[in-house]
Amino acid sequence: MCGIVGYIGYKKTKEILLDGLSELEYRGYDSAGIAVLQNHTFSIFKTVGKLVNLKQKTKSYHPEGFAVGIGHTRWATHGKPTELNAHPHLGENSYVVHNGIIENYVPLKHELQQKGVKFLSQTDTEVIVWLFESELKSSSTPFEAFKKTLSRLKGSYAILLVSKSREDTIFFAKGGSPLILGINNADEKYFASSDAPLISHCKDVVYLEDGDFGYVTPSEITLIGANGIQKMPSFKVLATDKLSAQKDGYRFFMEKEIYEQSDVIADTLLGRLKDTHIAFEELDKDFFKGINEIKLCACGTSYHCALAASYLFERYAKIKVSVEIASEFRYKKPLLFKDMLFIAISQSGETADTLESLKMAKNAGLKTLTVCNVDNSSMVRQSDAAIFTRAGIEKGVASTKAFATQMAVFWMLSIYLADKKHSLQKDEIQKHISLLREVPACVKVDEEMHEKITRLSKRYLHGHGFFYIGRDIFYPLALEGALKLKEISYLHAEGYPSGEMKHGPIALADPELFTIALLPNHMLYEKTKSNVEELSARDSTICVISPQQFKKADDFIQTKQTSHYMLEFFEMMVATQLLALEIAVRLGHDIDMPRNLAKSVTVE
Ligand code: F6R
Repeated sequence: MCGIVGYIGYKKTKEILLDGLSELEYRGYDSAGIAVLQNHTFSIFKTVGKLVNLKQKTKSYHPEGFAVGIGHTRWATHGKPTELNAHPHLGENSYVVHNGIIENYVPLKHELQQKGVKFLSQTDTEVIVWLFESELKSSSTPFEAFKKTLSRLKGSYAILLVSKSREDTIFFAKGGSPLILGINNADEKYFASSDAPLISHCKDVVYLEDGDFGYVTPSEITLIGANGIQKMPSFKVLATDKLSAQKDGYRFFMEKEIYEQSDVIADTLLGRLKDTHIAFEELDKDFFKGINEIKLCACGTSYHCALAASYLFERYAKIKVSVEIASEFRYKKPLLFKDMLFIAISQSGETADTLESLKMAKNAGLKTLTVCNVDNSSMVRQSDAAIFTRAGIEKGVASTKAFATQMAVFWMLSIYLADKKHSLQKDEIQKHISLLREVPACVKVDEEMHEKITRLSKRYLHGHGFFYIGRDIFYPLALEGALKLKEISYLHAEGYPSGEMKHGPIALADPELFTIALLPNHMLYEKTKSNVEELSARDSTICVISPQQFKKADDFIQTKQTSHYMLEFFEMMVATQLLALEIAVRLGHDIDMPRNLAKSVTVE
């Protein structure tokens, strides 16, 4: 989704801004721009499409010496991806970049139009800079004008604003969208909407809080908190491990991340699997005391993990679980009780709907836990406790290893809770611990299987759609398999519980309907097999993923014989990821940055 960078200093401003934007590229965008203020003059460049276009456009621009610059990658929400709608947006003498959505931009725009302002773009963002210009006329300082501007905005934002009215300054504000300020010893200041652009430049960073605003100059940081009182910036050392991901010889980040799953799951398990029990240092020993119900809340792939986790919690920890899609939960006026534990699941920790749901749960007095891949993310900072999935940075927009590590965490957490609640015997707990130790080996990509999937993929490039089917915990995996395919191949795919086919979906069955059937040995094999046979009888083209040969299938991807359905789950997860990847490769799509998608969805 949209990305922000900012810089004040004496180094190569253009390169710093463009490199910073490149680091944010994987998050998804459809236009980009930079504005540099130097010697009383703004230089501004904007392009539609990928950053190479912006790099090309700025090829002969080389600002030397002190400069103030801001840059942005835009993922269109209000107005099409055009140059005019790309950020930074100009007022009279100032430029702004903004992530988030200004919800009251329509009345603000009318008000400003009545004062004679002519808007160039269709965006909500442009009102910010014009409000600032308007407030400037009646304010004693540019900072006062900035403050007044912020007081008029409703919605979510991370904002950087530069103005000729105060040339050596970047004004900043955070309200709901992430923004980080970084410093080093060279009187430079950096801003970014996530860690990655800061890594090579700063050691010390401030993760701004909601309501924070202020300004920086080369020698000064003025930071005001949500209560309107000036505060000291609280610096943290920027963690640099695993952040600068490279493709390492793989064709795509997504492919590399599928192959990495074995290593990152080993990290997820590290120190948590003891001989006789499971340990989460992040949770104090009474964390689950007084909890009678768990509410799991997430979006997209993380929601599929939540659904899968609900099977594990109920089966092993014998606790009531409900699962919520965050964008629905926020507005349904849910019944919340103090004996519920609210668990937010998020790779990024910044997804707007999940973050707001977490805040709602917190305000209702619920205990909160976030299962997250990003240290210091907004959700981690908001919740009572956080468990890190330790997947490392995930660059492919289609989530793979983040999902895999979330699943490993929830398998462990369900057994951890089962142990606390004595709902499993000690020997059963030990059995799960041994099985969990097998996961890294089980998700190691089997080259033969990958080759087979590559060969098969050519038969699945047309047709009128895909059904991914499975039962029990393989149903959320079917949903996830279908989502992976949709995201990168742009083919229509749906996940279904296999028992549901005869209640409607089977009407679509014909040879041009492709069914991907998840048929594990250790979970309702016979039941699922009958459902697959029903589809086969209606001549649907069927690809079975199973350890057991299945005669009525057109195609067959063989997984290993294992001793437990969860090991089958992890292996089938890899098979569905590779199938989506190879189909999309044959269709010639952008695997790591599929159209219309963003890595971190910071607008609702
Ligand atoms: C799909 C995918 C998305 C995310 C969703 C939530 O591959 O990545 O569906 O899972 O946008 O994101 P997080 O987990 O960051 O909250």
